[in-house]
Amino acid sequence: MISSLKTLATGALLAATLAARAQHITVNVDQPGHPIAPTLWGIFFEDINLSADGGIYPELVRNRSFEDAATPTDWKIAGAAATIDDGQPLNPFNRHSLRLAAAGPFTVENDGYWGMNIAAGESYRLKLAVRAARGFQGTLTAQLLDAAGHELARGEISKLTEKWNYHTLTLKAAGSDPHARLVLSGTAQGTLFLDMVSLLPEKTWKDHGLRPDLANSLAALHPSFLRFPGGCWVEGDDFAHMNHWKNTIGNIDTRTPLWNIWKYNATQGLGFYEYLQLAEDLGAEPLFCLNVGMSHHETIPLDRMDQWVQDALDAVEFANGPTNSIWGARRAKCGHPAPFNLKYLEIGNENGGPDYLQRWPLFVTALRAKYPYLQFIANTDLRGRPGPTEPAPDFVDEHYYETPESFMSRAPQYDSYNRQGPKIFIGEYAVTSKCGLGNLRAAIGEAAFMTGMERNSDIVQMASYAPLLVNLNHRAWNPDLINFDSANWYGLPGYYVQQLFSANRGDVTLPVQVDSPRAEVGADRGRIGVGTWNTSAEFKDVQVTAPDGKVLLTSDFSHDSAGWTTLGGDWSVADGALRENGEQEFIRALAGRPEWTDYTLTLKARKIHGSEGFLVLFHIVGDEDRVWWNLGGWGNTADAIENGSTLDRQPGSIETGRWYDLRVTVRGKHIQCYLDGRLVHDLDYEAQAKIPALYACSSLDRQSGDVIVKVVNANATPLAVPLDLKGNPGLTGHGTAAVLTSARPSDENSLAEPLKVSPKNEAFAFTGQSLTRTFPGNSFTVLRFGTKK
Ligand code: AHR
Repeated sequence: MISSLKTLATGALLAATLAARAQHITVNVDQPGHPIAPTLWGIFFEDINLSADGGIYPELVRNRSFEDAATPTDWKIAGAAATIDDGQPLNPFNRHSLRLAAAGPFTVENDGYWGMNIAAGESYRLKLAVRAARGFQGTLTAQLLDAAGHELARGEISKLTEKWNYHTLTLKAAGSDPHARLVLSGTAQGTLFLDMVSLLPEKTWKDHGLRPDLANSLAALHPSFLRFPGGCWVEGDDFAHMNHWKNTIGNIDTRTPLWNIWKYNATQGLGFYEYLQLAEDLGAEPLFCLNVGMSHHETIPLDRMDQWVQDALDAVEFANGPTNSIWGARRAKCGHPAPFNLKYLEIGNENGGPDYLQRWPLFVTALRAKYPYLQFIANTDLRGRPGPTEPAPDFVDEHYYETPESFMSRAPQYDSYNRQGPKIFIGEYAVTSKCGLGNLRAAIGEAAFMTGMERNSDIVQMASYAPLLVNLNHRAWNPDLINFDSANWYGLPGYYVQQLFSANRGDVTLPVQVDSPRAEVGADRGRIGVGTWNTSAEFKDVQVTAPDGKVLLTSDFSHDSAGWTTLGGDWSVADGALRENGEQEFIRALAGRPEWTDYTLTLKARKIHGSEGFLVLFHIVGDEDRVWWNLGGWGNTADAIENGSTLDRQPGSIETGRWYDLRVTVRGKHIQCYLDGRLVHDLDYEAQAKIPALYACSSLDRQSGDVIVKVVNANATPLAVPLDLKGNPGLTGHGTAAVLTSARPSDENSLAEPLKVSPKNEAFAFTGQSLTRTFPGNSFTVLRFGTKK
């Protein structure tokens, strides 16, 4: 979700930081400030984008328990009549199985999550439950086949019984293919039932059951904490579809798969215990985010909250309790008698308002009474309402999803923050607009904001980028820090920003003064478009006119939608209108030229059905950009301009069945929106463009003696910056630099070019306490200056 609570306030601060003189950075090495919170840089794991199933939880079979649908979805069956059966369940939590009625040769295939990654020489453990009907005759062959059908491994399953029985095989692969599949086959007469068909690699990270390369990609971030198991996944659209930790522990055969808000079935194979183990293996503090009794659409009545509070108490007992406690014993049974030392609990996710204020004390009071050492994290309300104060939270969790420039404008926001209140946990942040699929410019925006976090880590004591992982075949959110398929992964440029900050923390801040010219940001430009969000609507008479009156585009949709590109949804042309019937989120149709900066867009729009109104887009460069006039947003309650941040939001709703006249004039960053001839938004966000080019923070690493200076150049072109290290630091004259940059701000990494935008290391020498260093345009540099210890 989007938070833009402080954009305008920081705009004013920002203007004051722009330098009267040329660029310059001064570090006062002899005036160490506050310690840098050791918890500062962590990670946030949400079960989103198939990050767990199809990701770090390496189950290779999809829909292993046949619970996902009324048909054998994700399975390919030939030679047998296949149905989903609930006559004789494997166990009470796993009620469906696959019924196969065969009269000869048959095959049952599964290719997992867009292909199973099978590697030569590695072993895979196949475990499945089988039940044969009376009179069934036959055995089963299990094979791993590559995409071309060549056999990589084989085993036989025999002695099938009339009762459910588990069979296990170790399949050792003779060849490799990241797109392999499992095939069970036989020649049989009769009926056979299959359930919990699981294929797991024997080699896992630290032997704790996770995919090694992805777990290593997390470990390489050196996270101090692990927030889990999600944000919206903790809330759920409703209570039936949210993460209930008690349903995610113990035998995997009894963890009922659950429809996840991010549009897939979650096996819960990565459950509460596994998250705690992952945190321990990463050397990170576990931070459990729990549901406060509020889903996206429901609230538990106050007089029924006891069970929810008890679940929270039980969660802490499971994590930390002695082995003779009920839940501590369950943990020990899972294989970890020692406590996990859970200290951080977040009560709710993005919740707020009176319901939140009433439920917060129920949890905190009960938990603190039993576990006085716990640190409680409160949500920051997305609607800006006051947060809880009784009992006072230890931390408040702020979330930011915005443009690169908004993030730059946030760099000074904590410099003048109230030090008397709770500490800050920036639990979710990422540049999500004007960022492509996660490009260099986004990373530069994040780095600029992070210099402000580090500089203020007396108050900002925890921060985590979001989301962390995406299976490239199921992108429910854009962008995501670590992108992967069945076999490989790459990090966004922002991944390397996270890594560089984390690996170069230092122990104590050093005061840094930055004089900076204004950044050359360049004009906003891009295509136009129309769109919908969970709504069906139609659009007609679209015209784009240049300021001199020249018509740049006109579409009457009398025959077709030539010149328009649709992104998602179900679009058609009817009665001279472009109609969207899909009723899904984030549906767009785009037209026009990427170089357009100044124009007037006129059109008519009519809502047909659904929960919101419509979107009118402008400044669209990348397909993921979200710059638009949102009419009837927020459940048809408000009207706003959004550019990643919500700007100029006002109450407003759209009537169904009525044609509206819409006009948007775009003159660079000056936007005017007219609804039926009435000016509803007149917004000049030029002020946001008045951002400095340079951002910096500095720290001292007491162990190595290094003075660390982190510098962001958000300018389009290089800047030669004099750097002064004041205060007799005893410099050796030798230093190292890690530089993250690339030829274009829009450059991204990919599976084909995973390290295209990644840091380059170099050594440098200098004399005295000053040097001038040229920082490339759109770059993030970590300098380490050696000192004589
Ligand atoms: O990080 C993606 C989502 O953004 C999280 O689930 C939610 O907390 C936020 O709205």
